[in-house]
Amino acid sequence: MKNKILSELKAAEGYISGERISKDLGVSRTAVWKNINLLKDEGYIIDSVRNRGYMLKECPDIIDTDIIKSKLSVDTVGTEIIVMKSVDSTNNEIKRRASNGAPGGLIIAAETQTAGKGRFGRSWESSKDGLYFTALIRPELPPVEIPSVTLASGYAVCLAIRKYTGCDAKIKWPNDIIIGRKKICGILTEMAAQSDRLDYVAIGIGINVNNTVFADEIKHKATSLFLETGKKIDRTDFFAEVINSLDKVIKSFLVSVSAEYINEFKKLCATLGQSVSVERNGNLIKGVARDITPNGELIIDCGNETITVNSGEISVQGIY
Ligand code: BTN
Repeated sequence: MKNKILSELKAAEGYISGERISKDLGVSRTAVWKNINLLKDEGYIIDSVRNRGYMLKECPDIIDTDIIKSKLSVDTVGTEIIVMKSVDSTNNEIKRRASNGAPGGLIIAAETQTAGKGRFGRSWESSKDGLYFTALIRPELPPVEIPSVTLASGYAVCLAIRKYTGCDAKIKWPNDIIIGRKKICGILTEMAAQSDRLDYVAIGIGINVNNTVFADEIKHKATSLFLETGKKIDRTDFFAEVINSLDKVIKSFLVSVSAEYINEFKKLCATLGQSVSVERNGNLIKGVARDITPNGELIIDCGNETITVNSGEISVQGIY
């Protein structure tokens, strides 16, 4: 009911009377009034004037599930969406639910995470203003294919950022998204498998959206969509764009990892052609990133030898 009233308020040009809302929705005036108060408690600023009714003045900056759902056209990723106020980590939450049989397609997002996780055991700063979510998929793929799922996810987010903001977002192989030399998005994929059978994949995505403050250790290499565009981003609207993109890319990827898809990925990959260094068996190896294999591995030309890496942390000269 609350969401229906919110829709009426949003659709109204100016004030709308309590009587009008109660007639439209077939509920009592008292029910309208109670729900208006609930919306106010959630941070909506609603003006109430005797004999005129209600007017929505301001919406709080929260992720609105109903609005997202109304903008989605998906059948693989984002078929169910739950937004939590706070959770330890959306990856942990998805993993808990996956173990209890949650279906593929579920997305869990959170306004904040108290123990957001990054790659290599790092933590992921998750104050409000960002977008933190994990998508659960249960593809019939051998576990070795999972790195390419992460690649596909990064590519999908990169496309969504480019489309929504016009920013020249690129991929820092394997799956950081950067704008200029700074990171805007990170992806942590986790999976559960029994021998050769994949149970599920949890694709955890963190995007700096309206964030303005970063911890000292990362502030030289982190940015946000707000800082890049100078405009406050509607996180609900942007989230819908990201989910639609994920659904489209992951779906086509699950059908076949085509050479065409890897070629498109390469066009947006900031790592290719750059001097890179990577740690391998305790040694720091330096070379030039030359290509990406059809399986998504990075080929590095080290002068005397050519090596292929399929994960790990790469430093790209001039980026980070
Ligand atoms: C990285 O670049 O190190 C990966 C960062 C991944 C962060 C996201 S935020 C949503 C999801 N939940 C987590 O705990 N981590 C991922």
